[in-house]
Amino acid sequence: MAEVRLEGIVKDYGGFRAIHDVDLDVADGEFVVFVGPSGCGKSTLLRMIAGLEEISAGRLTIGGRLVNEVEPRDRDVAMVFQDYALYPHMTIAENIGFGLRMRDWKKSDIERKVLESARILQIESLLDRRPAQLSGGQRQRAAMGRAIVREPSLFLFDEPLSNLDAKLRVEMRTQIKRLHAMLGTTTIYVTHDQTEALTLADRVVVLDEGRVVQEGHPLELYERPNCRFVGEFIGSPQMNILDAVIDRTGAQTMIRVGAASVPIHDLPLPDATHVDVGIRPEHIYWTSLDEGLLTPKIDVYEPLGSDTMAICDLDGQELTARLDPKVRIKRNEFIGLGFDADNLHFFDPRDGARIKPV
Ligand SMILES: Nc1ncnc2c1ncn2[C@@H]1O[C@H](COP(=O)(O)OP(=O)(O)OP(=O)(O)O)[C@@H](O)[C@H]1O
Ligand SMILES: [Mg+2]
Repeated sequence: MAEVRLEGIVKDYGGFRAIHDVDLDVADGEFVVFVGPSGCGKSTLLRMIAGLEEISAGRLTIGGRLVNEVEPRDRDVAMVFQDYALYPHMTIAENIGFGLRMRDWKKSDIERKVLESARILQIESLLDRRPAQLSGGQRQRAAMGRAIVREPSLFLFDEPLSNLDAKLRVEMRTQIKRLHAMLGTTTIYVTHDQTEALTLADRVVVLDEGRVVQEGHPLELYERPNCRFVGEFIGSPQMNILDAVIDRTGAQTMIRVGAASVPIHDLPLPDATHVDVGIRPEHIYWTSLDEGLLTPKIDVYEPLGSDTMAICDLDGQELTARLDPKVRIKRNEFIGLGFDADNLHFFDPRDGARIKPV
């Protein structure tokens, strides 16, 4: 069993606090992804779990054992890095078997184990080559091979796919997911790529400036971001955020965005006159100018085949809509756009917190 528990974990680099009081439980067999912008503390947190970085305060347990002071090699974890860190002078077989040789395994057992992992990763034919004779994706698989032969109770990945081209990244993503389904090993995976996070994770942990801002199932984060930051970070293309006016003069509270007036239940912001409204590009559809709730002007459009991205100007605010590719649009043309009020998200303009209509 390798559940991981972080309690009040803090990391200080001199006077700079990189990680603030993080509490997190990772269940045995779970695939958890840490995601967030550059510098938010993902690698620092992962390196503390690996034992490569000292913990300034808090408790870290792996499989119920307090490991704050335990050496990396005694934590039963295997880490895969962005740059693979393969030994250039060794063959791929020697690289994969390295950790086992260090543990004085018998030669025949090492060979059997190396072959078994190479088979899983489909690199059997490459075992006699050196890293320089491999493509990026093959090197990446060799690095994974080195991690899996050790049969650790915990895998740690730090942006393992970021050196690969877009196509290979998607292929390797699938392979990592398959590997996890096959081995069932507890995994913590770090990335700044929200698509990678959503596709791989059982649970996503969003970090910002050294703090956990939200954690949950990928769809939960997509459907109910608890703040503007998560709303904009999760989902591609990014959620639109529009400045809207709250109008309480009539019997029914309305919010006004551009020329659109949308009736809502009231918002728990008694003094506010404005609110940030979030709407995802895929929740906006094309309609006639007469029926459009919004009637922006098209600034740029991108025909992608599967859909067409329209980047519009709505009275000075930028708005991206993902439209049916059959809709023919032109630059500088005004179009009618509709949306379903249920797909709107409301955020407090002061601190970005999600507001629930009351
Ligand atoms: N050894 C160090 N000394 C001082 N500050 C550090 C050190 N290592 C990291 N930091 C700082 O801690 C913060 C978190 O860094 P970290 O490497 O964890 O970010 P990250 O989320 O992994 O970013 P990226 O996506 O760019 O890899 C950053 O502000 C960074 O400058
Ligand atoms: Mg990093």
